Amino acid sequence: MKYSIKNTALDADHIQAVILAIFEGGKLSPAAESADKQLQGEISKLIRLGDLRGNFGQTLLLHKGERRIILVGCGKAEEINERRYKQLCRKVVPLLKEIAADSVLNELTEVALPGRDLYWNIRFAIETTEQAFYAFHRFKTRQKDEAKAPKEMIFSVADKEANSAQQAILHGTAIASGIKQARDIANCPPNLCNPAYLAEQALALAEREARIHTRILGEQEMAELKMNAYLAVSRGSANEAKLSVIEYKNHPDPQAQPIVLIGKGLTFDAGGISLKPATDMDEMKYDMCGAAAVFGVMNAIAALNLPLNVIGMLAGCENLPDGNAYRPGDILTTMKGLTVEVLNTDAEGRLVLCDTLTYAESFNPRAVIDIATLTGACVVALGQHNSGLLSDNDQLAHAIENAAQQADDKAWRLPLSEEYQEQLKSNFADLANIGGRWGGAITAAAFLSNFSGAYPWAHLDIAGTAWLQGAEKGATGRPVSLLVQYLINLSEQ
Ligand code: BES
Ligand code: MN
Ligand code: ZN
Repeated sequence: MKYSIKNTALDADHIQAVILAIFEGGKLSPAAESADKQLQGEISKLIRLGDLRGNFGQTLLLHKGERRIILVGCGKAEEINERRYKQLCRKVVPLLKEIAADSVLNELTEVALPGRDLYWNIRFAIETTEQAFYAFHRFKTRQKDEAKAPKEMIFSVADKEANSAQQAILHGTAIASGIKQARDIANCPPNLCNPAYLAEQALALAEREARIHTRILGEQEMAELKMNAYLAVSRGSANEAKLSVIEYKNHPDPQAQPIVLIGKGLTFDAGGISLKPATDMDEMKYDMCGAAAVFGVMNAIAALNLPLNVIGMLAGCENLPDGNAYRPGDILTTMKGLTVEVLNTDAEGRLVLCDTLTYAESFNPRAVIDIATLTGACVVALGQHNSGLLSDNDQLAHAIENAAQQADDKAWRLPLSEEYQEQLKSNFADLANIGGRWGGAITAAAFLSNFSGAYPWAHLDIAGTAWLQGAEKGATGRPVSLLVQYLINLSEQ
């Protein structure tokens, strides 16, 4: 959909539908009030009749001449928050799918959110609407969703707010499209989306964007770099591991230190010899959601033309049991030189990431953030609404927490102090790859921290936030919004 702003009222000719906010008790928002006047009291009549009460989530569709009026109950004005606002934006989408309107004036942005401004209302409206229209029908040969989105959504904006509204449209559309890219590759089945597929996407992105160059490291290059932990995980798979290095160069100073984003890209994680149980194992195609998010972010920052140097790495790999697979008991010598005793082959993400973190040193990064569906323990600790944030660098952690709050893409910091290293002791090697029963999200991050000492580093565990289960099974595209926000903030410093 296209988004635009207009200093307009409902009477502009080309507007075929308008979305208006009604509060509990039939209180009209300013735009609803002026629409009511133009419509000769049509809306207040519905309130009098008792059909329109403005209860949260109520929707009514009426037709007036050639125009559709979508009335949205917003509940109590003082109860509106980010979550409720997004729910309202989503609520409208089934109606928009039903009607054939090409251009829609969206007046929901009038709804006031504490601590937010019009910029945020427009940006969240765009992100939420795009996400609600999303469907992954690439492999459906029947029953494709016929519903089509309107061509254009218009926000009415006073002249003095036009600049920030335009900014919101720019940011919102770039982030929404990054989220869509992330969801598309994440939802792709693992027989198609393997490490080579991730690499193809990374190469195709460089074809599209002049400021992006992509290099692929295959197993031979990894062997030359002594990335033995990464390679060990891949040994059970017939699909070659591929590390995609996507370089975005757009800082006014070409020598400026880059931000490095590393995405765990396990295109399937069966657990290896420490095989996972069968239930829900299909969901382990989503073990590449970190890589998918990094891919989405690289798309978005290119669309935004952010004046930064950013390197995105997709650490593609597959973890399967096989006669050639690595085993519990194996001792691996990492690229950094530290040895690791494998006690569970299902703790593979940290093995892939530790060598990638070491490789990242060669880029002299300003900061490194890794994004990984790393532990079930993180889901136990935080549930499905907050990504886990772990970092030994307060400044970087605060910057990420701020971005999470701004983008409403929640993250919660977990502690990462040196006591946790005790749990990673091995009798035979420098480190064990698992830390026992307690604090699994933390001990996983503690493991990684042994490899990230050369630069400011943070880790986002997205095991609970990257996809939804059950009837709505599918990738969420998180935390693209958080990461793009972090980079926008850096570019504005
Ligand atoms: N990819 C999984 C983590 C995961 C599991 C994410 C379930 C989302 C849902 C990771 O590779 C893994 O298997 N981790 C193990 C670590 C354990 C062996 C220490 C886990 O969380 O069980
Ligand atoms: Mn695993
Ligand atoms: Zn995994």
